[in-house]
Amino acid sequence: MATYSLPDLAYDPGALEPHLSARIVELHHGKHHQAYVDGANTTLDKLAAAREAGDYGSIVGLQKTLAFHVAGHVLHSIYWTNLGPDGGDRPTGELADAIDEQFGSFDAFRAHMTQATVSVQGSGWSALVWEPVGGRLLVEQIEDHQDHTILGITPLLCIDAWEHAYYLQYENRRADYANAIWNVVRWSDVAARFEAART
Ligand SMILES: [Fe+2]
Repeated sequence: MATYSLPDLAYDPGALEPHLSARIVELHHGKHHQAYVDGANTTLDKLAAAREAGDYGSIVGLQKTLAFHVAGHVLHSIYWTNLGPDGGDRPTGELADAIDEQFGSFDAFRAHMTQATVSVQGSGWSALVWEPVGGRLLVEQIEDHQDHTILGITPLLCIDAWEHAYYLQYENRRADYANAIWNVVRWSDVAARFEAART
């Protein structure tokens, strides 16, 4: 029983050009994201088989693999909807006010998150998240798909810093990708996530 499925893109793969090439989007969505969906479903099947057999000899590896694939699916699903051909500029309204309040200014926030994208060690992500206990926005730097994240947060804006997200177009220049991606961020989607997370 497949629990997870690959969401369709809301735009053509070439719609994010010149900031993100059509070939990157095709491969990233159709191959890489699909692999995390398949990995999540396969791991759930293996855990069900372990319960059936009462054999938990592989449980540590399976739980880690489940976290990797499910978190990968969640992050990519948010990433594709965070982006769009009508993106760019900067947020308005309550999200803009919260960013100003908690990071000093939009420019300071953007510089912080750009550096989080550029400097993540190995493969990972940067994310703007809502943290409900403190009632505030935070920037996270995530390794792989799941390491160093904070429980209970709601991701609002997720930027993929894995090489598969940019290397075909930007080669080793991750900073160029990390700067260009702001041109296709749909702040309307981020603001809707912010509103939903707080209410
Ligand atoms: Fe990715």
